Amino acid sequence: MVTMEDIESYKAIIAIVGLLITYHVLQYASFKYKEKKLGCEPMFANINDYSFGFRTALEFMKRKRDGEIIDYVHSLFEDGGFDTGSTMIAGRTMINTRDPENIKAILGTQFNDFDLGIRYKQFLPLLGDGIFTLDAQGWKHSRAMLRPQFSREQVAHVQSLELHIQRLFKHIKAEKGQKFDIQDLFFKLTIDTATEFLFGESCSSLVDGLEEGAKTDDDEILEIRKKFPKSFNDSQAILATRAILQDFYWLCNTSQFKYDCKVVHQFTDYYVNKVLNTPTEVLNEKSSGGYTFLYELAKQTRDPKILRDQSLNILLAGRDTTAGLLSFTFYELSRNPEVFKKLQEEIHATFGSGKDARTNEITFESLKKCEYLKAVINETLRLYPSVPINFRTTNKDTSLPRGGGKNGLSPVFMPKGQVVTYFISSCQKNKNIYGKDADVFRPERWFEDSTRKLGWAYLPFNGGPRICLGQQFALTEASYAVTRLVQEFSHIKSYNSEADYPPKKNSQLTMCLQNGAHIALY
Ligand code: HEM
Ligand SMILES: *[C@@H]1O[C@H](CO)[C@@H](O)[C@H](O)[C@H]1NC(C)=O
Ligand SMILES: *[C@@H]1O[C@H](CO)[C@@H](O)[C@H](O)[C@H]1NC(C)=O
Ligand SMILES: *[C@@H]1O[C@H](CO)[C@@H](O)[C@H](O)[C@H]1NC(C)=O
Repeated sequence: MVTMEDIESYKAIIAIVGLLITYHVLQYASFKYKEKKLGCEPMFANINDYSFGFRTALEFMKRKRDGEIIDYVHSLFEDGGFDTGSTMIAGRTMINTRDPENIKAILGTQFNDFDLGIRYKQFLPLLGDGIFTLDAQGWKHSRAMLRPQFSREQVAHVQSLELHIQRLFKHIKAEKGQKFDIQDLFFKLTIDTATEFLFGESCSSLVDGLEEGAKTDDDEILEIRKKFPKSFNDSQAILATRAILQDFYWLCNTSQFKYDCKVVHQFTDYYVNKVLNTPTEVLNEKSSGGYTFLYELAKQTRDPKILRDQSLNILLAGRDTTAGLLSFTFYELSRNPEVFKKLQEEIHATFGSGKDARTNEITFESLKKCEYLKAVINETLRLYPSVPINFRTTNKDTSLPRGGGKNGLSPVFMPKGQVVTYFISSCQKNKNIYGKDADVFRPERWFEDSTRKLGWAYLPFNGGPRICLGQQFALTEASYAVTRLVQEFSHIKSYNSEADYPPKKNSQLTMCLQNGAHIALY
């Protein structure tokens, strides 16, 4: 029996379905209209997994867990024969590109059409309002405020690194030429140097277990200082998960995360308060000896929230990136003895070695003259860019110059709110750009003409107005550390299985070796 009520509910269902269909038809028509108006053609490559992107999402999660996501995505581009394409991921259309022309548009020529999307909200609990999370005016203001802190004179202070390098040597020598994980030590080294640069006091994680910690006047900070490195690590992993969850970031808001954010904030606030309670004359005197970020920034603002947020933003941008670079460098040096030998020759000839190391001659300028060292670092950042995957979101209807039409070379339409993922890691391994041996670690390529004219196809530090502020700082620190290690140790040996090459990569906000860099140095 069909009752009147049933008929009413059928009518309602039909009306809803009708509305939905009309909505989608209108949306499609509007998309097509705008696409045409902007001179665009339909996307050339569309990956359909026939499950609205849920299968893709699961596959990506599995690959990420196994440390394969970077190489997996690369194989999708290579095997699919496209540089820009669309996929659905968990119900949302994503545009993915590794085309230097598109990357140039997103970061450079069409900078104002794109912003960070919901990164601000995803990272808010840890990072607050800082250069790394803000868009528009807030970002402009941050960038103008922080820029002077990264001038050539400020980043050239390599002497302050030496103390930490000596502590690193101590750990390595304690291994007595046996196998150890140098990545673990590099993470400690970079948190120690970064906290010293930012706050004027290192968290001295390399000191643990070997000698008494550098003395502080305060027991309170000693406790927090011990907890800080782990909390900083763990809270960042949560930020990465929140970034992957896109709009559903708020699902990931555990009590452990809140605790870790609190530890990181307490740690930072301790130094901020210390600086704010120090008279300006004393700060001026202190800064004359070396350079401390927070002392300088406090000359521009006395707002504790700004001081905390900006210094944490810098810590996040600068620490793991540099640790990753150093780890991948030694990973590759250990499996390429002839590269190690050439590097050794250059460094020994320029700065001496062992007991005759002329440490005081290693400066910002003299490091810049070490061509082979620069090529080794360039090549490491090519195969292992610290930020392999990044996102931007359109803030208006716009287009990308490539990806549409029959051969993928025509412009494609990007509606407002579209998330675009750009894969620096895949761009920098594209065989059409770098040649057949694009997968091979070969620093010598940096002396060839073809590699010198790369433009937007080599972008480890990003490009355009948001280019990495710390590029010179990072290159100087990494070059200094490599130089000192090569001066001190004449032999290197790899304990990483060649069967596992290319290595599994842990890709959170930044990338490092999933299973560490196991080597011997003596
Ligand atoms: C190997 C080392 C490094 C690499 C590969 C690297 C790479 C990058 C990349 C790709 C971005 C762009 C992020 C985005 O816009 O989404 C960036 C931004 C940034 N980096 Fe670095 N970075 C490194 C080290 C450092 C260091 C040591 C510092 C500071 C001490 C630093 C400070 C910054 C800052 C402040 C930004 C934000 C710039 C802005 O948005 O205006 N970086 N970096
Ligand atoms: C931080 O993470 C890195 C890479 O995952 C790891 O090597 C290091 O031991 C971690 N440090 C702490 C204190 O958890
Ligand atoms: C996460 O938890 C904190 C503390 O309970 C709360 O203030 C915040 O609103 C939560 N964030 C989201 C996005 O749910
Ligand atoms: C390293 O890469 C940069 C950026 O493309 C380039 O300007 C520089 O010449 C390269 N250095 C060497 C030694 O190849």
